[in-house]
Amino acid sequence: MNNKAMPVVSIVSLKGGVGKTAVTLGLAGAATSRGLASLVVDLDPQGNATSILRTHSSKTSVANVLEHPTRAEIEGALTPCDWEIGPGEVDVLASHPSVIRFDSWTHPGSAFTPKLAKALNQLDGYDLVLIDCPPSLGALTREALAASDLALIVTTPSYFGAQGVERAIAEVEEIRKGVNPRLKLAGIVVNRVRSVAEEHQYRMNELGTLYGKAAILKPFLPERIAVTQAEGFGTPVNEVKTPGGREVARIFDKYLSTLLRM
Ligand SMILES: Nc1ncnc2c1ncn2[C@@H]1O[C@H](COP(=O)(O)OP(=O)(O)O)[C@@H](O)[C@H]1O
Ligand SMILES: [Mg+2]
Repeated sequence: MNNKAMPVVSIVSLKGGVGKTAVTLGLAGAATSRGLASLVVDLDPQGNATSILRTHSSKTSVANVLEHPTRAEIEGALTPCDWEIGPGEVDVLASHPSVIRFDSWTHPGSAFTPKLAKALNQLDGYDLVLIDCPPSLGALTREALAASDLALIVTTPSYFGAQGVERAIAEVEEIRKGVNPRLKLAGIVVNRVRSVAEEHQYRMNELGTLYGKAAILKPFLPERIAVTQAEGFGTPVNEVKTPGGREVARIFDKYLSTLLRM
């Protein structure tokens, strides 16, 4: 990784509802319980991560940063949140509904000048930056990938999930060949796995065959009510003191180790 001091990880998928935000926040929770300082960039106009983190209000958002990618603008938009449970800390570059303006369709592979990358390059002081992407592979996700060292693809074990993974991998390749040669595919997170479901087993095997078993992060992320509970409470899943909460928290901690080793 080029930017060893502050690895930037994009959490992407073509689809909504697969768990991008859950994975982003799971990693942020794992990072803060290790004492790391992380920055969550919420690039989804729906702003789920911004609200689950109970982000303190601020005058500006990531939309302003995309408009003017200067050091002053990004530092002015950074805001704390309620996840100050320590020992680490989580800051947020909050979303705003107007971020949608930056998601206009452009032809994949067409030239563009990355704005978020420019702004993040002028920032320091974090151990980790996590970018929660919108559920599309449009201009916003391209901004995220152009700014990242690592791309983590999230999917569910379903037919359309596998198709989405294929397109996301192609997008990562495109950005690497174009604007961001340092971008690496960190792997695929298979989320909401119900090991008893035969269809899930079939799709897991299919993903393994298609993309090589090494690319799929282990263990899989199981379907656990603790994930939804954490979301409702506005806390990291490691604060949900149930067997499911502990299980999922352990997995996120493992994923974090994998990412930080890359
Ligand atoms: N492993 C899981 N187990 C149970 N529910 C989950 C899991 N992962 C995600 N969810 C739930 O699924 C919904 C969609 O997840 P979310 O992270 O918002 O997806 P995305 O950001 O990709 O749209 C949320 O309500 C979330 O709580
Ligand atoms: Mg989301």
